[in-house]
Amino acid sequence: MKKIAIINQKGGSGKTTTVVNIGAYLSLFGKKVLLIDLDPQAHTTIHLGFNPSDLKKSVYDVLVNETSIEESMVPTKMKNLFLLSSRIELASAEIELVNTIGREIILRDALKKHKNSFDYVLIDCPPSLGILTLNALTAVKEIFIPIQAEFFALEGLTKLIQTIKIIRERINPEIEVSGVIITMYDQRKNICREVMQKVKGHFKDKVFNTKIRENVRLAEAPSFGQTIITFAPNSHGAIDYRELAKEIIKGGDHEKNRIRQRPVKLDNAHSSGSRKKGK
Ligand SMILES: Nc1ncnc2c1ncn2[C@@H]1O[C@H](COP(=O)(O)OP(=O)(O)OP(=O)(O)O)[C@@H](O)[C@H]1O
Ligand SMILES: [Mg+2]
Repeated sequence: MKKIAIINQKGGSGKTTTVVNIGAYLSLFGKKVLLIDLDPQAHTTIHLGFNPSDLKKSVYDVLVNETSIEESMVPTKMKNLFLLSSRIELASAEIELVNTIGREIILRDALKKHKNSFDYVLIDCPPSLGILTLNALTAVKEIFIPIQAEFFALEGLTKLIQTIKIIRERINPEIEVSGVIITMYDQRKNICREVMQKVKGHFKDKVFNTKIRENVRLAEAPSFGQTIITFAPNSHGAIDYRELAKEIIKGGDHEKNRIRQRPVKLDNAHSSGSRKKGK
């Protein structure tokens, strides 16, 4: 069972879109998938067509009331695709858990009972590095970081990498960034190409070959409560997420080549001349 957290504390970097659509394609390809919506905004839950308050149980119950995942998850419209939903109460979990010993490992313990129940568990994290994201970081071995190809894309990534390093040293020695996904890519824009070069310079072979292009159909699908598979199966968004899912199943080049090279510095990434060209 592969457990992957999709993390970037920068808001709007494509985490939810990636979790929902990769999850959908993995399940279409016959994999059994659990999506965990760990964001109080409940966007993954809504994207999959649910009204969060209609669902009896959610990941909140798993974290705060010690309810099992099995009892709390629901099937989705897609065969093989299951959801552990979120709801707004999750926003107060941080405060409610403040006196709970081991509050950052609750999700990890809950998942232990599901060692081989799924092929993939994908966790959609909120855009912050609080207790919810910490629960994801202790529960998984792998992290995917979606990075939007835009001017401020790399801001805050140094902080994220530092946090992952601390978690590795103190709680979860196995954790590593195993994939970086470029999202909302528009190859006509210089800034997109420059951000991509910078990201590849830092994360090297961990960057997936498949880039997710900017595609309006991906932005429209959530309001119809559909994945891109049913909403616009021939769109660029569908093609890109399908290719990405295949790359994940194959274990892309980024996983095969483990040679460590000295990464380039991420800070001030956007000052690499992006504006000097004046185009
Ligand atoms: N490839 C894309 N092309 C066009 N729009 C996109 C694409 N990917 C995501 N979007 C849109 O961009 C917005 C942000 O995407 P998304 O919600 O997936 O980001 P997020 O990282 O989950 O955000 P948050 O940090 O708020 O949870 C959404 O409106 C989404 O529909
Ligand atoms: Mg989101």
